[in-house]
Amino acid sequence: MARLRTDSARLRSQIDALGRISEAPSPVVTRVLFSDADLKARTFVKNICRELDLSIREDAVGNIFARWAGSNPKLLPVATGSHIDAIPNAGRYDGVVGVLGALEALRALKICGFQPKRSLELIVFTAEEPTRFGIGCLGSRLLAGALPLQKANALRDRDGHDLTYWRKRAGLAKQSMKSVRLPTKRYSAFIELHIEQGPLLEKERIPIGVVEKIAAPSTLRVQLTGVGGHAGAVLMPQRRDALLAGAEIALAVEKVARTTGSPDTVATTGVFRIEPGAVNSVPCRAWLEIDLRDTRLQTRNAALKRIEAGVSNVCRRRRIQFELEKVNVDSPAICAPSLVNTVSAVCDELGLRVKKMISRAYHDSLFMAQTCPTTMIFIPCRGGISHRPDEYSAPNQIKNGVQVLAYTLAKLSAKIDS
Ligand code: GLV
Ligand code: MN
Ligand code: MN
Repeated sequence: MARLRTDSARLRSQIDALGRISEAPSPVVTRVLFSDADLKARTFVKNICRELDLSIREDAVGNIFARWAGSNPKLLPVATGSHIDAIPNAGRYDGVVGVLGALEALRALKICGFQPKRSLELIVFTAEEPTRFGIGCLGSRLLAGALPLQKANALRDRDGHDLTYWRKRAGLAKQSMKSVRLPTKRYSAFIELHIEQGPLLEKERIPIGVVEKIAAPSTLRVQLTGVGGHAGAVLMPQRRDALLAGAEIALAVEKVARTTGSPDTVATTGVFRIEPGAVNSVPCRAWLEIDLRDTRLQTRNAALKRIEAGVSNVCRRRRIQFELEKVNVDSPAICAPSLVNTVSAVCDELGLRVKKMISRAYHDSLFMAQTCPTTMIFIPCRGGISHRPDEYSAPNQIKNGVQVLAYTLAKLSAKIDS
């Protein structure tokens, strides 16, 4: 195959243009599921797919599939992709590099005259970020059948709107949600290109990471109901303050994560809202969302139990009513050794050092791994920073990732033994 030419300037200007499609002024990127910005961003990406002559399909939850048909339609396709939604106050690269980078890889393969045997398919997953409904990887979860439809239909956003409401708004409600789940044996492989979102590659000056395992995430939602009242009139012994119970819970969560004995346990209380939110009123209600992860399932599960017990203890002592919902409790993903080897071999051929890694962040790959052999290609990002507007990977770092992805896709699309 002729040497691939990827165009870093074009890719950079696409990343910047997509970054400007945001609910908040640049450089902040906020693209909550099915917001106007998310819908515009989807159109932006679909236009590039059309430019590349890919055939586009969208499923009932908005996952986008863009296919370059292979010469042998009997062979299972090779898929790549990531997400373009973004949490509030995010940056330009998380997810986007794996979507626009994949399109640049496909473009380079087309330009050099490559003809895939297996079809190559880009997937743009719906709501990898847990923004609107508080659950991450919504699209890939549904593709993998890891979220029962009943649970998906019960999801509500802060305004009480459900998925059907938002699917209607996005023009997706005509299709049945039952059609989202992938049939077994749909893809021969899935490869996701992503920024590392951690500091190791940059620190060790290694241009490429290949992922062997993705940590096990879980999310808890806690609703606390105390008793409100006048800040001047309710004396301290009578108080049943929901905020203070929440504050103690957040500290207990931190303590649990620090004392599992595993340096890989991380826990975050990332959402904490109170009512009524007036300076002269005792908070009567609080909502917390807690994110807990570890690379080992057993450790994560033990920590989860301790947090649940902690919530119950704090609430008993403070006479607070609580509801605790486990939004998701996921297992780690083990990546396919054969794909890890393929990516490593491509790196050797390109003269790029490669590091085998664990992904501490979750990705749609966590769920794609339940449907087909999967791995991820990581590139460094400045300071390991992510989920912030100053998230950054340099054009040359992205180019390395795109090249590794392109050659990996080419190899896998020509491989006919699986
Ligand atoms: C993904 O965005 C994560 O929170 O790991
Ligand atoms: Mn993210
Ligand atoms: Mn991501």
